[in-house]
Amino acid sequence: MAALTLRSSMLLLLLPPSNSSPISHRSPSPASCCIHTTQLRSQLPSKSGHIHRLVLSNPGRTKLNPSSDRSFYAFPRLVKHVDEGFLDNLTSLYRERIPPDAEILDLMSSWVSHLPPEVKYKRVVGHGLNAIELSRNPRLDYFFVKDLNEEQKLELADCSFDAVLCTVSVQYLEQPERVFSEIYRVLRPGGVCIVSFSNRMFYEKAIAAWRDGSAYSRTQLVVQYFLAVSGFTQPEVVKKLPAADLQIPESNSLISWLLRLLPSAGGDPFYAAIAYRNYKPT
Ligand SMILES: C[S@@+](CC[C@H](N)C(=O)[O-])C[C@H]1O[C@@H](n2cnc3c(N)ncnc32)[C@H](O)[C@@H]1O
Repeated sequence: MAALTLRSSMLLLLLPPSNSSPISHRSPSPASCCIHTTQLRSQLPSKSGHIHRLVLSNPGRTKLNPSSDRSFYAFPRLVKHVDEGFLDNLTSLYRERIPPDAEILDLMSSWVSHLPPEVKYKRVVGHGLNAIELSRNPRLDYFFVKDLNEEQKLELADCSFDAVLCTVSVQYLEQPERVFSEIYRVLRPGGVCIVSFSNRMFYEKAIAAWRDGSAYSRTQLVVQYFLAVSGFTQPEVVKKLPAADLQIPESNSLISWLLRLLPSAGGDPFYAAIAYRNYKPT
């Protein structure tokens, strides 16, 4: 794939250490969790899952190529969008965070879900924009096609997944607050959402806030998408930089700026933002 690798001119700052403590990875049954939530809603003025503020300005949501995403993704791309080092980090994270009997939603998916091959999950549902790609994905039990920039509502039941994944795709969402609210809705309490990304993108299809940002600001953007929706835990950030990137001094000097424009000899940097649906209504 001719995905454009963007080495940002901005500084790569060290992310603050995670201050969240994930709650139990185990989930109650869908029935019990939904009854519980409904009961609580009738008793308490719960705002769980509501968008309480917008993260992006209108200009921040714009794309250089405003044509329909469906036509952009009409041709199947049966390629890997990031390198093996990135994918190894991602699969290890999934192994660590997703229980083996989980029901998983792979949002903005393609022909590969990067799940650990040795783990059998209860159900994996895929979503994307290209049916040929999704039909080739051996991990999916079911898939559906939907343009999330046209409509964000997912035709999926409340509290029906233990994990929602979004791999190297969050930069294409024009209404991320609404999509994250839907992610919250379909997650069971205690369920995890893992959003991973690198510095590659289809530049013309990434929103301005992402395109014009740095590694640090993009990570913070995803953190803010979670925080915009009531009821997620404080997001954790996982960052794994290839050795060559680590050697670039984190300063504002011209040499650092120039080095960051060069393709990385060390491979694709790995970033993930992780949050859980809280048990407690907010
Ligand atoms: C770089 S690919 C990543 C695919 C997959 N997650 C992976 O790891 O290989 C970006 C994906 O985002 C999805 N996508 C882009 N724009 C979208 C939109 N408006 N609505 C839904 N999905 C979209 C496409 O299906 C596309 O496969």
